Amino acid sequence: MARRRQLYEGKAKILFEGPEPGTLVQYFKDDATAFNAQKKGVITGKGVLNNRISEYLMLRLEEIGVPTHFIRRLNMREQLVREVEIIPIEMVVRNIAAGSLSTRLGIPEGQRLPRSIIEYYYKNDQLGDPMVAEEHITAFGWASTQDLDDMVALALRVNDFLSGLFLGVGILLVDFKLEFGRLWENDEMRIVLADEISPDNCRLWDAKTGEKMDKDRFRRDLGRVEEGYQEVARRLGILPEAGLRDMKGPEAMQ
Ligand code: TMP
Repeated sequence: MARRRQLYEGKAKILFEGPEPGTLVQYFKDDATAFNAQKKGVITGKGVLNNRISEYLMLRLEEIGVPTHFIRRLNMREQLVREVEIIPIEMVVRNIAAGSLSTRLGIPEGQRLPRSIIEYYYKNDQLGDPMVAEEHITAFGWASTQDLDDMVALALRVNDFLSGLFLGVGILLVDFKLEFGRLWENDEMRIVLADEISPDNCRLWDAKTGEKMDKDRFRRDLGRVEEGYQEVARRLGILPEAGLRDMKGPEAMQ
């Protein structure tokens, strides 16, 4: 089979030209990086699980009216998505103190925040994705005030919905990172969720034990990294065990 044209290779994914205009194929690799690629590794099976987990979460979000770039999963490692103009902002939503928030502000990891906090980072590997304020984003034209309003409204809905969905399977959604894109349809532009939602860009802790089930296992050398990703998929009822078409619903936890 002729290989599709590769458009972009990132740290965890590759984008290929899609079968129709306005579409792309997103390929999920097993490669993992941390600390702006200073730490590199492979998490066996991560690509398959993230493809599946992101598909599941994006479909559930579409059901509640959150627009996303997702069209459909093509195979174990690939999904078809709409081609969007990526807004160069990584939006982090936090519910519980962890990671860079704890380091920067001295708030102990695990402390519930008084309310959800949104942070912006400028998506630029050379600069190490620096944190920026709304003022930088609008002044430099990375996004308009209207774009940002739409992004924040979507992020808060995503947070509410995913916090509940994960809690239902015994997982705390500590924080996560979202990316957005502009989708043009007949001269009309709308902001849609892009990239992926997976244990690569969420912190997910077991609600009872606090055990980490996300990429922090890799970042912090905690071991049993693959098991963390598998456990998230298993709880969501989407672990590809008995074959790819074995799609179960989430398993309710007491
Ligand atoms: P942080 O505490 O390191 O700032 O991370 C906050 C959240 O954002 C966490 O869920 C991991 C995610 N994240 C990414 O997806 N990509 C990144 O490059 C970084 C630094 C964090």
